[in-house]
Amino acid sequence: MSRVKLNAAKSALEKIPKTGPIGLGSGSTVAIFAKELGQRISKGENDISVVPSSYQAYQLAVEYDIPLTNLDLNPELIITVDGADEVDKNLNLTKGGGGALFQEKVVASASKKLIIIVDESKLVDKLASKFLIPVEVLPFSLGVVRKKIESMGIEPILRQAEKKMGPVVTDNGNFIIDLKFPKPIDDPATVATDLKMIPGVVETGLFIGMADEVHVGQEDKAYIITK
Ligand code: A5P
Repeated sequence: MSRVKLNAAKSALEKIPKTGPIGLGSGSTVAIFAKELGQRISKGENDISVVPSSYQAYQLAVEYDIPLTNLDLNPELIITVDGADEVDKNLNLTKGGGGALFQEKVVASASKKLIIIVDESKLVDKLASKFLIPVEVLPFSLGVVRKKIESMGIEPILRQAEKKMGPVVTDNGNFIIDLKFPKPIDDPATVATDLKMIPGVVETGLFIGMADEVHVGQEDKAYIITK
């Protein structure tokens, strides 16, 4: 297990409430967080239920005996803990590297506080520096969305599955297009709005102004960046 990711996860665990519903994000760092959370719950240190943000998060909760809830029962969450693919200096995020972004954004939006757990490689000056920007697209609209994105000077790359022929199909039955920008993004809020306005775009992996704290894991400790 990565010590760096474990330290980020342990740092976030210090911030979760003793009781109540929280959001559980997705990704490999969240998987480590979920394992630690499950151990705390089994020892009676926390009485937590989670709203999962993906099938992966749901399966993690089942695997580690973490009680499950949902947004119908708990439309307001105390916090959500999630990972990210890039974090800029204003704590804007790129997410969706693992194919989950839409439900992650809904869960994050329901949360009073969003804690992000990452390693230092995820910290960038501007988004789209190292990572393509994922966008979830209704399959019916793929052709038209691609064309509109190309007309914005951005290269759209349909994400292909690895152990299935054809495109990745998300937890919501949609496709993912990864966007290759000509240069890192200066104004991610405007880009996020412009992309979201394209009919057929279900959601983007740009999380603007949503993160409250970023817990950055290192080999021997973690530190926290706040807004
Ligand atoms: C899932 O699609 C993403 O939004 C993840 O939160 C993100 O990819 C971070 O994952 P890792 O913790 O595995 O880097």
